[in-house]
Amino acid sequence: MIRVQNLSKQYGQTMAVDNISFEVAEGDNLILLGTSGCGKTTTLKMLNRLIEPTAGKIWIGGEDVTAQQPELLRQNIGYVLQNNGLFPHYTVADNIAIVPGLLKWDKEKTQNRTHELLQKLHLSTDLLSKYPAQLSGGQQQRVGLARALITNAPVLLMDEPFGALDNITRTKIQEEFKELDELQRKTIVMVTHDVHEAFELGNRIAIMDKGQIVQMGTPAQLLFKPENDFIRNFLKTQRLQLELKAITLHDVWYSLPSANNVPVASLELDTNENIWRAMQYLKGDVKHIMIKSPQTNEVKLVTFEQLMAAYHQYQNTLPA
Ligand SMILES: Nc1ncnc2c1ncn2[C@@H]1O[C@H](COP(=O)(O)OP(=O)(O)O)[C@@H](O)[C@H]1O
Ligand SMILES: [Mg+2]
Repeated sequence: MIRVQNLSKQYGQTMAVDNISFEVAEGDNLILLGTSGCGKTTTLKMLNRLIEPTAGKIWIGGEDVTAQQPELLRQNIGYVLQNNGLFPHYTVADNIAIVPGLLKWDKEKTQNRTHELLQKLHLSTDLLSKYPAQLSGGQQQRVGLARALITNAPVLLMDEPFGALDNITRTKIQEEFKELDELQRKTIVMVTHDVHEAFELGNRIAIMDKGQIVQMGTPAQLLFKPENDFIRNFLKTQRLQLELKAITLHDVWYSLPSANNVPVASLELDTNENIWRAMQYLKGDVKHIMIKSPQTNEVKLVTFEQLMAAYHQYQNTLPA
């Protein structure tokens, strides 16, 4: 869906982005991960031509983006700006309706779609007449997302979308984000400096440094097959938590015991979820969760201890 070849952006002596290449398959979530100043935002903005590259090529949906009018291109790419980027003097309704306005949608169409998104993003319609400053950080973030989703573009670019939120709001919105049906089919490129967020939300991660991609792969590839010490050090903190996020229930499926009978009211997760997520449910009073394989529809009922045991068993299969 997205193909980037030898892309660079130079500012004077600074190589903000230095000869990077990558591809994003349709429906994938690629995370550009790295410390401040490594070139993430510049990369993202070149994808929708908010910044023109010094060198290199970009194709989206098979089309060379430099051959397209920037305005038309941007209508087909949703964009969530760093620090939500809402216009302070526009109401929430007007902020969300910016692109529909450019596309000359009629009032009713814009209104219907806005209401649909508000509902999906758990925002009250009372907010429509308010200004961004009257909203909480979490609400502003959701409005920014609504604005990016309104035209249902197949590609979504997000720059540190959860960056300004407190930890609890952040975790909650990340969870909702993973479940949002609007996002399931989209090809997403998301920027973050937060390793845990990257492991939570990305199925592929590109770790960047000084304008270059140091390594790109699945969370498990980066953790268990780091190409150099830079990657190893980058992923050093809270290693256990990262491993639990990198390993999916699918990876440990055969180490989990089969269920004989499943209580009706059990919480259900599918095997695409990571172990960390499953463990979050097994706190407090919840003793078991149900896990279902989407491939075979087989169901298993597991406890925290059984998950931990499966994780250790998986670890033993990894090369030393
Ligand atoms: N308009 C600009 N003019 C000069 N230097 C820039 C400009 N934009 C970005 N840079 C530099 O390019 C590098 C990458 O910036 P950026 O892509 O914003 O990083 P990130 O999003 O990873 O924090 C930084 O060193 C930054 O100072
Ligand atoms: Mg940035």
